[in-house]
Amino acid sequence: MLKKPFILMALFSVELIIFLAQACTPDTAADIMSPDARVVLGFSLNSDGVPHYAVTFADQEFIRPSILGFSFRDAPALSGNFKVLNITKQRKSSVWLPVWGQIDSVENDYTEMLVNLQEREKPFRRMSLEFRAYDDGVGFRYIIPEQENLSHLEITAENTQFNFAHNDSVWWTEADFDSYEKLYNHTSLSKMIAANTPVTMQTPFGFFASIHEADLQNYAGMTLKQSDTDSLLFTTELVPWPDGVKVKADLPITTPWRTIQLAPNAGALIHSHLIENLNRPNKIADVGWIKPMKYVGIWWGMHIDKYTWSQGPKHGATTQNTKAYIDFASEHNIPAVLVEGWNEGWENWGKADAYNFTQPYSDYDLPSLVKYADKKGVKLIAHTETGGDVPGFERQLEAAFSLYESLGIPAVKTGYAGAILPAGQHHHGQWMVNHYQKVVETAAKYHLMIDAHEPIAPTGLYRTWPNMMTREGARGQEYNAWSEGNPPDHTTILPFTRCLAGPLDYTPGIFDIKFDRYKKENDVHSTRAKELALMVVLYSPLQMAADLLENYENRPEFAFIEHVPTTFDETLVLNAKIGDYVTIARRKGDSWYIGSITDEQARTFHFPLDFLKPGQKYQLAVYADDPKADYERKPDPVVILKHDVTQGSVLELNLAAGGGAAVEIHPVVMR
Ligand code: NOJ
Ligand code: CA
Repeated sequence: MLKKPFILMALFSVELIIFLAQACTPDTAADIMSPDARVVLGFSLNSDGVPHYAVTFADQEFIRPSILGFSFRDAPALSGNFKVLNITKQRKSSVWLPVWGQIDSVENDYTEMLVNLQEREKPFRRMSLEFRAYDDGVGFRYIIPEQENLSHLEITAENTQFNFAHNDSVWWTEADFDSYEKLYNHTSLSKMIAANTPVTMQTPFGFFASIHEADLQNYAGMTLKQSDTDSLLFTTELVPWPDGVKVKADLPITTPWRTIQLAPNAGALIHSHLIENLNRPNKIADVGWIKPMKYVGIWWGMHIDKYTWSQGPKHGATTQNTKAYIDFASEHNIPAVLVEGWNEGWENWGKADAYNFTQPYSDYDLPSLVKYADKKGVKLIAHTETGGDVPGFERQLEAAFSLYESLGIPAVKTGYAGAILPAGQHHHGQWMVNHYQKVVETAAKYHLMIDAHEPIAPTGLYRTWPNMMTREGARGQEYNAWSEGNPPDHTTILPFTRCLAGPLDYTPGIFDIKFDRYKKENDVHSTRAKELALMVVLYSPLQMAADLLENYENRPEFAFIEHVPTTFDETLVLNAKIGDYVTIARRKGDSWYIGSITDEQARTFHFPLDFLKPGQKYQLAVYADDPKADYERKPDPVVILKHDVTQGSVLELNLAAGGGAAVEIHPVVMR
């Protein structure tokens, strides 16, 4: 009953404070509860004045008291001898409307606690801790406010601990300051030595949790490092500058939120919006130019050696070839075409100043292609591979982005495939975090959407900068082209780990799974029906159908790719077992799109279609693995079945080993 007026008020962007802020008398311990009372976040100062936090979920201990604090270069640590100045608590509730996403409105409902601390002795420095408890987890961050005799700090360590209560079962990738492109390990927590985040775990009590960060700006990315003496105790290990310092900043310093998503089951992790909720509201006033879209492109051909990026006899980005992609896109309801290898410099990939981001190769007639695409109602997506040469890219950024805008190009795929220049900087360090941010903000100025490869992990910033559409930051489809590839369970882990942080440009949709014509040794370890399902399961507002055109021509199952949207009103997880299978249903208007995928085991699922509207007749189309399909021996055949359904119907899906199914359901309009 109470909910509606809250929502209406919030739509007018009023933040409703449910009970007034209460300032407590200075105390050395306090806690807050989530609105549903299941999540409890406790703060305490021990007798040495060291701040700690602890977390329980459904009365079970998840994080035992864990230390909070910093070490600095040329300044004493800010890690103890504190007293509490005051503690304030507030309950806040609002709703915000994403520009695009997996859901059309997000509830932002939490209890907040601000703890203001001051050193008991000289130099009496102050630090604040901001905590939030949501139904789907907790967030906390540090604020080092402006204060006398302190204007700049160089953080050598953020000493935030995660003192896990149990030896949970955990899905994790190895810590790496330059890459997230790894396969997941599934081990007990005590075996996790150092990890990139998100890290996702199942506790002995059956509930799930995922550790990551939100609103990462002007700060270094975080990894988790196991303590030498306690295998369940982890500390944040920030990515360093070349001189070993982690963060260099002027006061006030507001850190990213440390996030702990908590969920009673694996599927509920996917329903969580904690990370976006911990980001600041949209800063782009006019968002009319931000348009989620599907794309095809001159891309897979280079990875399987059909084409080259560089100019030469196998050059992919020729005028003629690009026209064929534009024709196909126009005929098949695909709004955009990505072209890689269009600009000069690929011969020098990896060297400083290799690339020219405004100069097309001589066999790529950019102005005429833009006109051709325009006539056909198709957009070109630009590509800026830097090879890691960030200074070279920054020097050309304004000129390149203003050229793309003047040509009507709506989006840029960026790339940093190589060691970062200046030498010693890391992809995930503060200096690069600021570079990625500069690219997003410059892109906004020129009305360009960004798809970042070799990025910093998503931390929900697309709420603030909704032109930051999608990114890599995972081991994507490309690995299937030139390595041992991704095993079938990889895509059944991604939705519960990397994808919790934000959209993923995995580039699904390969139809010729074995591509033996080009490479006998490599294959996609999937079925064609699973590749269709991934278009739904792995959410991306810029979603690529990645295969060569010839593999899509005259394939009735391409219809699913034509129809599936890239932004949705509602998302439901129908079943989920991390590393085994997952089924996700997404609604756009009155239509539903379902993706169901499995690991190397064949499975049959039954789903009551109780989410359909009562009394409405729908037409359903299933794109399923052929009964004889199998990801290793017979991955390509797809059967398409169409029939009418209503709310009472049960959908049966038969997934081949390594396979999947895609489903679309549309209301039948009665005449
Ligand atoms: C790596 C990117 O992930 C891939 O999509 C791109 O084709 C290459 N770099 C070349 O830029
Ligand atoms: Ca092959």
